[in-house]
Amino acid sequence: MISSFSSTMLIRSILKKQSSLSSYNNILRRNNYSSSSECVPPARKVVVLGAAGGIGQPLSLLMKLNPLVSMLSLYDIVGTPGVTSDLSHANTRSQVVGYMGEGNLGKALEGADLVIIPAGIPRKPGMTRDDLFNINAGIVKGLCTAIAKYCPHALVNIISNPVNSTVPIASEVFKKAGTYDERRLFGVTTLDVVRAKTFYAAKAQVPVSAVNVPVVGGHAGITILPLFSQATPKADSLSEEEITALTKRTQDGGTEVVEAKAGKGSATLSMAYAGALFADACLKGLNGVPDVVECSFVESNVTELPFFASKVRLGKNGVEEVLGLGPLSDNEKQGLEALIPELKSSIDKGIKFANQS
Ligand code: NAD
Ligand code: LMR
Repeated sequence: MISSFSSTMLIRSILKKQSSLSSYNNILRRNNYSSSSECVPPARKVVVLGAAGGIGQPLSLLMKLNPLVSMLSLYDIVGTPGVTSDLSHANTRSQVVGYMGEGNLGKALEGADLVIIPAGIPRKPGMTRDDLFNINAGIVKGLCTAIAKYCPHALVNIISNPVNSTVPIASEVFKKAGTYDERRLFGVTTLDVVRAKTFYAAKAQVPVSAVNVPVVGGHAGITILPLFSQATPKADSLSEEEITALTKRTQDGGTEVVEAKAGKGSATLSMAYAGALFADACLKGLNGVPDVVECSFVESNVTELPFFASKVRLGKNGVEEVLGLGPLSDNEKQGLEALIPELKSSIDKGIKFANQS
């Protein structure tokens, strides 16, 4: 355990070694930290499970670039030593450690503040996310069993599909282990938000960096419900047909990439980007940065379903507040009604799997 004094000294020595101190300070400023030496970010250990995969590698790179991370722990059942060696040469704040094989999973997880899970198989053309259930449900269950044992207080970001079922699986595993804290479990739906922002900005011809669009529901087909009626900046010129087309494109965004990759997997680079954005938001919340709000699939009272994606305020313990849906257009109300049965059945499937196997 590093004392706060010695960790401050460690960070100071890292800062000294950075020849580009001013650009480091810019990054700190961007992350809402003052650049003064007495206000450096606290030490944070981030673990990536599935780190050698299509998402795992670029996501690990982006986490290596994040100045809020002091220790980056990479785990996979194959290929971790190469990824670890490669990434460890990047001259950024975090130390990188790699672990391979189940026997080393505990060491990878110990002391984690945040665990990100992109482990599992991706879709091929013609498959639904639910077709991944048979393999990925067991992978997520096994990894969450280890999280409950080795880092029960970590925040957990689940990327592995089908998210609508893997998050309920994780919650049941944690409940059985007596470690469940609903504030600490997140299904990562940031890629839906990233897509909605990109597609909306192009259609509305507004600068993409200024765009905000909440996306609620779940993470598969019609359960993905972008709320373009709440999009900012407002684009009154968009017709109802154009909003319907934007909604469909956001819902089918994953399939668009799966088809373009033609059998070589699903979104990896945009997912790594989205996963890194969400992880960064979680770290900011842990560090006490105020008003960090992102959409995520979490335990929820927003609808009758036990899990639902909506805007969430992040804080020092994870979810600080699950925000409501706000006013919906008639089409969005219909979309919400239509998604409930499908999302319910995916949630139930996950809960049943976790309790019967
Ligand atoms: P991939 O096959 O390229 O990589 C998966 C990695 O997981 C591999 O390196 C594999 O060795 C590893 N793995 C398998 N079993 C493991 C275990 N028990 N422990 C640790 N690692 C294990 O796949 P990918 O393209 O990186 O996609 C990973 C998952 O992410 C898929 O399920 C995919 O559907 C999902 N995904 C989710 C979103 C989202 O928005 N939430 C977006 C894209 C992809
Ligand atoms: C995505 O939305 O890109 C992911 O869920 C992967 C997939 O299978 O579509």
